[in-house]
Amino acid sequence: MLVNSNRKLSQGSLAEVESVAELISNQIRHVPKIGIVCGSGLGGLADVVEDKQIIKYSELEGFAVSTVPGHVGQFVFGLLNKTPVMLMQGRVHVYEGYPLDRIVLPIRVMWKMGIKTLILTNAAGGVNPEFKVGDVMIIKDHLNLPGFCGINPLIGINDDRIGPRFPPMSDAYNREYRDIAKETAKELGFSDFMREGVYSFLTGPTFETVTECRLLRLIGTDATGMSTVPEATVARHCGMEVLAMSLITNCCVMEFDSDQKANHEEVLETGKARSKDIQKLITKIVDKLSPQ
Ligand code: HPA
Repeated sequence: MLVNSNRKLSQGSLAEVESVAELISNQIRHVPKIGIVCGSGLGGLADVVEDKQIIKYSELEGFAVSTVPGHVGQFVFGLLNKTPVMLMQGRVHVYEGYPLDRIVLPIRVMWKMGIKTLILTNAAGGVNPEFKVGDVMIIKDHLNLPGFCGINPLIGINDDRIGPRFPPMSDAYNREYRDIAKETAKELGFSDFMREGVYSFLTGPTFETVTECRLLRLIGTDATGMSTVPEATVARHCGMEVLAMSLITNCCVMEFDSDQKANHEEVLETGKARSKDIQKLITKIVDKLSPQ
């Protein structure tokens, strides 16, 4: 266990964030410029990171450990084609029972370590009827549905040293980054499976009912999933710029007489099938976001 001191720091406090950031900074060779969170089945990006150093979440005091298959549970530091990155191979989710401050702690640690750009990826169910399994959707906006009933990582006393009490979210997903992602997909010949749309966050762990899927579509959802929004929310709160992408791993069931059922195995298989393309896409986007 890596611990700074035996002083117990209050969970979710700036002091806790600073303590972990300092601890990690003292160990790593490459100061990261870009943070990347790998969603379900997308952790393969870590394979192409060079001069790698790994810190497991379980080695860090106060860190929550992923309990889901497809989420390894470690930070990977190193160079992604010359850009120093900090990659999260696996994240934790609300449905695992962790408090929101545990879910967003790694993002605040990235911020405290000086990272200004965050790339979030996830696996999601396609709600837009035009979406196909294997499509990649650039998130242009989100619907924080649990936020409508009081599940938001910024609830509680606000620490102005981290960010403002009432942060805007109308520009949550950086427009310039989205253009770069689209342009990069085109250069790689990926345009036929690239999409852009609205991501709706639900806590899970249940996949949606038919009526829930229909409702999600009615209110403007293109894809739905169980992550990303808490992380994007705190990243914007502390002033980081965010690019987020969903891999459509299944199509949400919209018809009552359908025999189709969402399952986690399908999510992981689609991640595997598209993982090389996503690796290429993210590596090239990172090159553009961080010119040498
Ligand atoms: N619903 C919610 N989360 C998901 C899905 C889905 O259909 N697929 C992958 N993550």
